[in-house]
Amino acid sequence: MTDGEVIVEARALTKRFPGVLALDRVDFRIVAGQVNALVGENGAGKSTLMNILSGVYTDYEGEVLVDGRPCRFAGVGEARRAGVAIIHQELSFVPYMNIAENMFLGREPLTPLGLTDQARMHAEAREWLLRLHLEVDTHTLMDDLRIGQQQLVEIAKALSLGARVLIMDEPTSSLSTSEMEILFDMIAELKQKGVGIVYISHKMDEVWRLADFVTVMRDGQLVTERPMSELTPDEVVQLMVGREQRTDLDYQENVPGRLALEVEHLVLRSAGHADRKILDDISFSLHSGEVLGFYGLMGAGRTEMLETIFGLHPAQTTGNIRVDGRPVQIRHPQEAVCHGLALCPEDRKREGLVLGMSIKENVTLASLNEVLRHGLLSDKLELGAADDCRGRLGIKSTDASQLAGQLSGGNQQKIVIGKWLKTKPRVLFLDEPTRGIDIHAKTEICRLVRGLASEGMAIVFVSSELPEIMAVCDRIITLREGRLAQEFKRGDFTEEAIIKSVMSV
Ligand SMILES: Nc1ncnc2c1ncn2[C@@H]1O[C@H](COP(=O)(O)OP(=O)(O)OP(=O)(O)O)[C@@H](O)[C@H]1O
Ligand SMILES: [Mg+2]
Repeated sequence: MTDGEVIVEARALTKRFPGVLALDRVDFRIVAGQVNALVGENGAGKSTLMNILSGVYTDYEGEVLVDGRPCRFAGVGEARRAGVAIIHQELSFVPYMNIAENMFLGREPLTPLGLTDQARMHAEAREWLLRLHLEVDTHTLMDDLRIGQQQLVEIAKALSLGARVLIMDEPTSSLSTSEMEILFDMIAELKQKGVGIVYISHKMDEVWRLADFVTVMRDGQLVTERPMSELTPDEVVQLMVGREQRTDLDYQENVPGRLALEVEHLVLRSAGHADRKILDDISFSLHSGEVLGFYGLMGAGRTEMLETIFGLHPAQTTGNIRVDGRPVQIRHPQEAVCHGLALCPEDRKREGLVLGMSIKENVTLASLNEVLRHGLLSDKLELGAADDCRGRLGIKSTDASQLAGQLSGGNQQKIVIGKWLKTKPRVLFLDEPTRGIDIHAKTEICRLVRGLASEGMAIVFVSSELPEIMAVCDRIITLREGRLAQEFKRGDFTEEAIIKSVMSV
């Protein structure tokens, strides 16, 4: 079926976690010069499988072969020496170290005296970054980069290892379109060199563009492994979910209520250069019961706009905001919350999920009043809220007491969304709410958003996925380079017109 040589092969891999069979006798192959797309719903076992092949988990049943020889990695270092590199779904850098230190952690180039050769380390790091067209000083701390850049650094690090096998667990989740193109070129180049690639993604268009063959997993089991030419995207989705897919949203227009939010002449200035405007003269209004989408290319200012309204950059902000017709001053997120606003941020791994707490504690964290009885935390109410959320968003877990840290990446994201949806604010800002979430749950989140709007909530919905934003919104405003570009009413939505309005043509 595949003509290249098999570099890494997994035979009958089985992995158990307490209460979960995460992998159930899975066979898998990584072939030289080919991209194997690994797909499946949240919690299907994709990351677990890759964690075994890259030496993260050493405790498993079954067999791993490299070049046909059985081998059992004792750890990540050993896998790396065997030529297997992985870019993890949950980025795993040291935030207070700089870019070069992170890239060469544990394998720093040394001077004859045995000290880290700083000059060489930074020069090499710079070279790798440039290949990905990332122009930042390699002395920059990881924490000071935006997530897309952090992701690129992790990719550069994996490339610098010169691996024979490169595993990418949702590598484009925070990349802009142009950054994605650079990555795709890089993948093509690696293929040419005979590197075997595993590409995990929830985005079918990427899978179709990159993959030579696809492996579908469901509930810890391998469903199929086949060349792309034998399948259609619809068939792959059906194999993933194991049932007929309902993608219809059944859009119904809500009767718009009162004006919930008015923003006038909002300006955000750069912290360093006061004459540079990151946001320039943004004005819009939003009614209760309405879902307003913001669409733009990465860097157009969508996230900054939400943050600015939410009081995250008070010193650099000018403009007027009214909530329910009353002028308000928002100098701090706390004040935003007091005025009935809520923001579900883009960077959910940093914000809002406590890995050491249970699902039910996380879900109710932002809406504690709802689970109090006579002023005391009611376990029953808490459990009810958590089970409701697990059911509606399809959070795959053993029970509501399971720790958030034990869930798959996508399921962790669902908890954070569930938490914010529960706060019942007047105005809800959702920044990329479906990133990393499987197709089934995406539809579910869109339904929830429509449901909340029909109950009178005013919702701002930011997404990079055009079909999704078109499905869920009543109105879409496009942004370009920090300014309003165009406004579209539901009847006028077309992909072409919206994309055209965000491009600088
Ligand atoms: N450390 C852990 N402890 C307990 N259970 C775990 C742990 N890691 C993963 N699991 C469970 O194993 C199953 C498979 O998870 P995995 O992370 O492999 O899914 P995934 O296919 O990568 O999903 P996603 O698309 O959401 O990233 C899930 O049910 C998950 O809850
Ligand atoms: Mg995963």
